Amino acid sequence: MANTKSIHGEWSSRFAYILAATGSAVGLGNIWKFPYITGENGGGAFVLVYLACVLAIGIPIMIAETMMGRRGRQSPINTLTSLSTEAGANKNWHYLGWMGVIAGVLILSYYSVIAGWASAYVFKAIFGGFSADAMEVKATFDNFIASPMQLIFWHTVFMIATMSVVRKGVKSGLEKAVQLLMPALLALLLLLVAYAMTTGESYFKGLFFLFSPDFSEIDSDAVLTAMGHAFFTLGLGMGAIMVYGSYLPSGISIAKTTLYIAGADTVVALLAGIAIFPLVFANGLEPASGPGLIFQTLPIAFGNMTGGWLFGILFFVLLVFAALTSSISLIEPIVAWLVENKGYTRDRASIISGTITWALGVTVALSFNAWSEFTILGKTIFNALDYLTANLMLPIGGFCIAVFSAWVMHDKDVRDELDIPELQYVLWKYLISYVAPAAVFLVFLHVLGIF
Ligand code: TRP
Repeated sequence: MANTKSIHGEWSSRFAYILAATGSAVGLGNIWKFPYITGENGGGAFVLVYLACVLAIGIPIMIAETMMGRRGRQSPINTLTSLSTEAGANKNWHYLGWMGVIAGVLILSYYSVIAGWASAYVFKAIFGGFSADAMEVKATFDNFIASPMQLIFWHTVFMIATMSVVRKGVKSGLEKAVQLLMPALLALLLLLVAYAMTTGESYFKGLFFLFSPDFSEIDSDAVLTAMGHAFFTLGLGMGAIMVYGSYLPSGISIAKTTLYIAGADTVVALLAGIAIFPLVFANGLEPASGPGLIFQTLPIAFGNMTGGWLFGILFFVLLVFAALTSSISLIEPIVAWLVENKGYTRDRASIISGTITWALGVTVALSFNAWSEFTILGKTIFNALDYLTANLMLPIGGFCIAVFSAWVMHDKDVRDELDIPELQYVLWKYLISYVAPAAVFLVFLHVLGIF
């Protein structure tokens, strides 16, 4: 490959890359989505399937996607063009890049609305403090999402924040944002877990719910959701980690860094679950409360604990930042493409892609209130977009990435780029050639009722 560096810049160090990629992985998916979909899908068995998917599908594909990015050194669309040229394969592979770019915009449109909820809660924490009463906390949340203007306002604020980070580019924008936030978020989560332990019996009920699998609780759709979430939470299947890989200096081990990132991501999700479910049980709430789950549980903890006012503020601030370090990776592929192919400045590319995403997000905000009756195949706009992207587009994208890196690229090029000991390479190659694609395929067949 002629390119040894991306025109957009590079991460300044291995550590900077790990932080940025962990920032992309750790976000609302871990703290907001994982608990509520676990609650909706009966707990332990769902968690186990999700963990199995992270190990057998997520990690091998994450290595493949990062590897492709570093070898191509461009936006996912152009990377796929140049990698298929290098492999002497059909150029149509670049449509995989397009699917990713579109998935990124679709995901960000609803991601930003939920990040807007978290932003609004920063202000609720500052000005109102939180009530210790579960009913009051729930009423606050219900009133909030019933208001189109509030949701649109906070979604707008969050989109502006995202685009102002993105326009600054790799080093000054993306990197700086994560350095402080990740450790601080972890500290606050540990505090919440400590609080959860004070709920006595409910704490063990929470643990039991999360870690004791009952397979009669899950059906094929739950398995699909668990698999889709493995992609979502690691930020895989749409080119986000590919574009981050394209800014990765050569000589840094992709396999090792991937293991750190996936490990950190999993720990954060499990901690969030351990913090939240004891509160659910202690307050007689429903695990299957849906997307509002953390907004109806965590404020109770802050309302009860000493220093809760301050911790509540801190927690939601950190959640917003965790969302921000993820949202920038969702939009980076399209921004990089606009810069490469249209010759736009980063500013212009950010404004254009941000505006499109924002407009779509407005319809998502309305789907929680004014348009809640409007459904597509029985799903609200929010639910439909979430299902389409997380359950379908990401696994399909991931499947194609596995096939491309295992069967289309030349083995020698892949070895070159990964540069890992033989035994590890053979293991990865086996997972990416057979296990990961077959698993995705079987889950799809299962959902279609064929298997
Ligand atoms: N992983 C992030 C989270 O859990 C969301 C995210 C960032 C993402 N980049 C992505 C999801 C790319 C899918 C694809 O919150």
